[in-house]
Amino acid sequence: MTRLPDGRTLAFGTATAAYQVEGATAADGRGPSIWDTFAARPGSVLDGSDGRVACASYRRLDEDLDLLAGLGVAFYRFSVAWPRVQPTGSGAVEPRGLAYYDRLVDGLLERGIAPMATLYHWDLPQPLEDAGGWPVRDTALRFADYATVVHDHLGDRVGVWATHNEPWCAAYLGYAAGKHAPGRREGDVAHRAAHHLLLGHGLAAARMHEAGADGVGIVLNLAPVWPERPAAARAADGIDAIRNRVWLGPLVDGAYDEGLRAIAPALDDSRLVQDGDLTTVAGSCDWLGVNYYTPERIDTSDVGGGDGPAADGVGQEASAYPGAAPLRFAPRPPLTAMGWEVEPRGLEELLLATHRRTGLPLVVTENGAAYADERRAADGSVDDPDRIAYLRDHIAAVERARAAGADVRAYVAWTLLDNFEWAEGYTKKFGLVEVDRADQTRTPKTSYRWYADVIHAGASASGPAPIP
Ligand code: FCB
Repeated sequence: MTRLPDGRTLAFGTATAAYQVEGATAADGRGPSIWDTFAARPGSVLDGSDGRVACASYRRLDEDLDLLAGLGVAFYRFSVAWPRVQPTGSGAVEPRGLAYYDRLVDGLLERGIAPMATLYHWDLPQPLEDAGGWPVRDTALRFADYATVVHDHLGDRVGVWATHNEPWCAAYLGYAAGKHAPGRREGDVAHRAAHHLLLGHGLAAARMHEAGADGVGIVLNLAPVWPERPAAARAADGIDAIRNRVWLGPLVDGAYDEGLRAIAPALDDSRLVQDGDLTTVAGSCDWLGVNYYTPERIDTSDVGGGDGPAADGVGQEASAYPGAAPLRFAPRPPLTAMGWEVEPRGLEELLLATHRRTGLPLVVTENGAAYADERRAADGSVDDPDRIAYLRDHIAAVERARAAGADVRAYVAWTLLDNFEWAEGYTKKFGLVEVDRADQTRTPKTSYRWYADVIHAGASASGPAPIP
């Protein structure tokens, strides 16, 4: 069974998520998910696309496994699609769905790559959303059952588990801003979703621990929140509360803090936060995943943009932070194609702060950049020095955080393949490998070869991985 890297040197991996790469959404008994439904609704996805074909990884599994082997990654972070395993979200299990993940896990192990499985990367079975979705308590109980099914099946080979990926996006982009599935714009209801995501995590972790697991974590998109001026401090505190403290409070202290409850009164409701819920969540993690792309610079709503066009990047919208004071996101150049500021110091600061706050072993479970990828090498492949610079500078930031004492075990580049980037469709490319949209042919970019060299050098060195 695979284990969390020991941290002697920084271990390297890459990642994908089921709905973003698998395609084959109607194959082998898979049920519909909220992303199938949401993407089919006109106006939800920028280019009107969806995940029906995606990268066709469901059919091209061996090719993707060979690409991973070519990179030389120590581990691969993938997600399991709940609607493949339990097509209606509860009850009957689809053996053909589990068989796909058997092939994936066995194929990784055969190539000497450790699997790291995420149980929920946003593809809620549609029948559970029809019954109310994450704002409803029953969804948390169903998640724990599903997690148990997958762990019982793969737990003999997979030792490193993440329950949720970025529950902030699932709760707040899904139920407050309506930018992600299921596309509901219901403000405070998102706090209810957040609590049930945490409860689902806690219940699942307890069941997995009872079954002997010792590598259960959660992946959070925590962010350093930087006010641009003193007058923006209150708004920034609200962003910190809803982005960071809503997860870390229960996970570390078993409590939602007072400042958070003041702007999210739902979290004071004893019908929502029932006796024992927070005890279930507290101390439930053996490790913590941190996804980082950009810091959040916060300004007062009346500065800069006024009513003019917002400077905000993807996901940077006030409606995703119900209860926070009026504000404006103020990313500073250079920006990636997502409109996200490039600032590696944010990752260094975040890792040190999260280390101090949690004391848990950390993994940078996602980091990477979307660029236009217009430049071509002589052989026609994408030549992407901007992506290489981004990865290089962020890996260096991780090494600085490690040198300053943060217990960071591993770094995961997002992502192996250009894929379905949620509400941005196929318009944003994060991959180390280009995927032809017409026939899904894979072509490694210069960054793929560069990352392979970094991994090779890091794996053979006893100190920090050298940065070429
Ligand atoms: C994260 C998601 C991942 C991908 C990157 C760019 O929020 O976890 O699936 O979309 O952003």
